[in-house]
This record gives sequence, structure tokens and C-alpha cells, in this order.
Amino acid sequence: MNHFLDIHKTDKDQLRAIIDEAKAIKSARNGRPKAMPDDETPLDGRMVALIFEKPSTRTRVSFDVGVRQMGGQTMVLSGSDMQLGHGETIADTARVLSRFVDMIMIRTFDESVLEEMSDYATVPVINGLTDRTHPCQIMADILTFEEHRGPIAGKKVVWCGDGNNVCASFLHAAGQFGFDLTFTGPVQLDPEMEFVGLARNQGSTITIERDPFKAVEGADLVVADTWVSMHDAQSARERRHNMLRPYQVNEALMEAAGKDALFMHCLPAHRGEEVTSEVMDGPQSVIWDEAENRLHAQKAIMRWCIGG
Ligand code: CP
Ligand code: NVA
Repeated sequence: MNHFLDIHKTDKDQLRAIIDEAKAIKSARNGRPKAMPDDETPLDGRMVALIFEKPSTRTRVSFDVGVRQMGGQTMVLSGSDMQLGHGETIADTARVLSRFVDMIMIRTFDESVLEEMSDYATVPVINGLTDRTHPCQIMADILTFEEHRGPIAGKKVVWCGDGNNVCASFLHAAGQFGFDLTFTGPVQLDPEMEFVGLARNQGSTITIERDPFKAVEGADLVVADTWVSMHDAQSARERRHNMLRPYQVNEALMEAAGKDALFMHCLPAHRGEEVTSEVMDGPQSVIWDEAENRLHAQKAIMRWCIGG
């Protein structure tokens, strides 16, 4: 069995195999409800716990649907309704859940929760987002980029805005999949330098460029995310908006990127803030494919987790 905790913690050949499997799973679907190659049901008889300590639409629905399409069943649990939210340790929760379920997906705050869960669980654990990373999202993003533009290796991705959890997983992916990444945003919201260093050590060119119009020159993909993440204090909202406003992805910025650049956003988006409706609904945007691809990427991840 394998845990899927982060992109930089997963072997790069296995990451590539997961993406290729996701492509095969998606094409096998061909509009049918059963959606694995040869109608396999690798989660037959298996129960998957989906634990949410933060809100979710895409992660919740895509995992739930994916497990069912693979023949398994799900149990969606809210952290605050569990004893976990009332003082029971994560280690004890992991030990107990492992006696009942065959896989655990958790969305939480501090990544130490995910780490403790995976240290003590005897079933695979999947990271459904922490304050620090969001690996399932970026696996779906790689799948989306490659179905529109072919191999992502050697391409230029531009991250606009906050160097947050989603940006961190993009940096991990840059190193593992061999693409370059330019971050453009205010200095106060730079991505973690540890992750920048990791990608550079793997041979990726990681650039920090404060001018968004310079940053997007020659981009193959422009990416935005919310200016205030779920783990950010609401009291910092106005300050963050003021800092981030120059980094809004709008038609002028996409024009500077060039007509071949794609636009992605993990969603939920705040129209008129980090991105305009013109860009979200425009010809360069692949956000709905990106959202759908959570399903296909995560089915491949789950199969890898159970040793498939
Ligand atoms: N992109 C993403 O993870 O969306 P949700 O918060 O709706 O799960
Ligand atoms: N950066 C966002 C991503 C949401 C999917 C957050 O953590 O709230």
C-alpha cells in the first residue's frame, strides 16, 4: 500500500505512471457511468473515509464519485463531528479508522495532522489539502495541461498572486515533472523558499518576478488562486487584497501572456478579484476540464494507493 501525501514525496516515475493511468481511466469512461478500463472495480468491497476539517465542493464530490465508480463505498466525515475535533488524538483516530475502513482521505489545517494520520494508519492516507500543500489538485492540473498541450516537461508555468498551498504543490510538480515556474506576487507572499530550492535542485528554472506583465511573457500556462485561503485569518483580508490587486489575471495580462497560454484556477474562484469573468469564461480558460480531471486523477491515485 502507498500513502499519497505530497508530490515531492512520491517517486517521479510513479507520478508519471499515475498521470498516464488517469488518461487511460478518462478515455475508458467514454461517457459511461462505470469508468475504469475493462470495467474493473478495484475498490469492490472497500470503504473509504473522506474526512473534512475545512469546506469542500470538488474534493468531496470527486472522491465520493470516484470511489463509487471504482466499486467502493464512502463515508464522509466532518472533523468537528468526530472525537478528533474534541480531543481524541490523531494517532488514536488513525488506529481506530484503520480497523474499519480501507483508505482515508483527509482535508485538514496543519500538515502535522496528515503526517500523524499516515504514521499511525495501517491503510493508505491521501492528502486532500492542508495549509501547506494540495497535491491531488496539481495532479489534475498536469493531466489537464497535457490533454490540451502535450507533455508539460520544459514548459513555462506562471503563478500569479499568493505563494500558497496550491502554489507549493505546483513547485513540487515543477521539480518532479521537469517544467519551469515563474512566481509573480508581492514579496510578503512569496512561496516557501525550501520548495523553491527543491525544484531548482531538480533542474527546474524557478523565477521570482515582481512585474506580472514581465512574468507572463512566453507563458504556456497562467495560474491564479484565491487571495484569501481557508487557513488565512479573515482579519488579513483587506491587507491581502491591497497587496494582491496588481496581480489580478485579466484580459490585459492574458494578452501579454500570448494567445497560446492556457489559464487555470483550482476553484473556488472569486470573480473580479484574483481573476476576471472575461478570463474565466474566455477561450484560454480550461478550468472546467481542470475541475473534472480531479475525478480521473484521483481514481488513478487511489488505485496506486491500494497497490494497483
Ligand atoms: N479545488 C478544490 O480543492 O476545491 P474544493 O475546495 O471545492 O474541494
Ligand atoms: N488556496 C485555497 C485552495 C482551495 C482549494 C485554500 O487553501 O483555501
